[in-house]
Amino acid sequence: MLLEKIKPLFDFETLPKPVYIGNGLTHQDIISVSQFDTARLDYIFARAHEMREMVERVGAVDLLKGRVLACLFYEPSTRTSASFIAAMERLGGAVIPITQGVQFSSVSKGETLADTIRTLEQYADVIVLRHPEIGSAQVAADYANVPVINAGDGAGEHPTQALLDLFTIKEELGRLDGLKIAMVGDLRYGRTVHSLTRLLLQYKVSLRFVSPEILRLPLTLMNEVIDARLDVRETHDVADVIENADVLYVTRVQKERFTDLAQYEEVKDQYEITPELMAKAKSKMIVMHPLPRVGEIHYAVDADPRAAYFRQVKNGMYIRMALLAAVLGKA
Ligand code: NCD
Repeated sequence: MLLEKIKPLFDFETLPKPVYIGNGLTHQDIISVSQFDTARLDYIFARAHEMREMVERVGAVDLLKGRVLACLFYEPSTRTSASFIAAMERLGGAVIPITQGVQFSSVSKGETLADTIRTLEQYADVIVLRHPEIGSAQVAADYANVPVINAGDGAGEHPTQALLDLFTIKEELGRLDGLKIAMVGDLRYGRTVHSLTRLLLQYKVSLRFVSPEILRLPLTLMNEVIDARLDVRETHDVADVIENADVLYVTRVQKERFTDLAQYEEVKDQYEITPELMAKAKSKMIVMHPLPRVGEIHYAVDADPRAAYFRQVKNGMYIRMALLAAVLGKA
């Protein structure tokens, strides 16, 4: 039979969105945002919403009673580690925190990531890992028999942060489609920017990238943006985007990723969001930041109702509660 005559079983253009049996996340590693299509995002956001209501009503439940999370952080963290710990505790589970003290663990004796992971999985049902090398979360997941959640792999990805960022935009502005989103600062090394940009490619958004020349979005990621055929522009100047932005996503210059510190000094103070700049922005827009900030947003902006970065922090706990419940099969 001629090949052209074989009819496809489905018209792939009009195939409906996948409907997952359960949520499709049970016992899964969470390594990259590429695992999240809009159906799965909607699922996690709905669960995060319920977690917020539950916490506001009763503070904590027993959903993950008897379950243990190992939190293994080879890089500094305040929000990511604390929110995972709070998330597990509010769901009734327990935590092995190897966060601020990796130097006191056997890692400082030269233990490999593989051996540390294979040890922790003897005690824990899920492992959250932050590590300075791109790809390390996948390596850990390859060794582990329990789910591994990537809490930042060097300048690679930070999927749970991107989920809470997207959740925050939706909660604050009520939608994603149609928004103008400007990312400001270190777009080259900022892993939160990489993950959030990839998630946003699934929506009809306009993207504006604001950075110094040497901190532009990596070319491979820019090619993905271009392939998604979104309205996208780059500039060096926040003044070019402030009037039209619905979301201003500000980031810190990632000092720890520079090999030449003189180069860091050149670009570190390029941007500061001030009340004067905010006076030019729309009345209904939000300023976000994954935090920590080191001078990119003036403290006087904190009192502005459009400053969403601390509300964003709280959303991190709800998103991580939803993820832990899903991964541990308690959706
Ligand atoms: C970010 C990170 O670690 O990538 N912080 C966070 O997780 N909230 C951003 C940063 O360190 O600049």
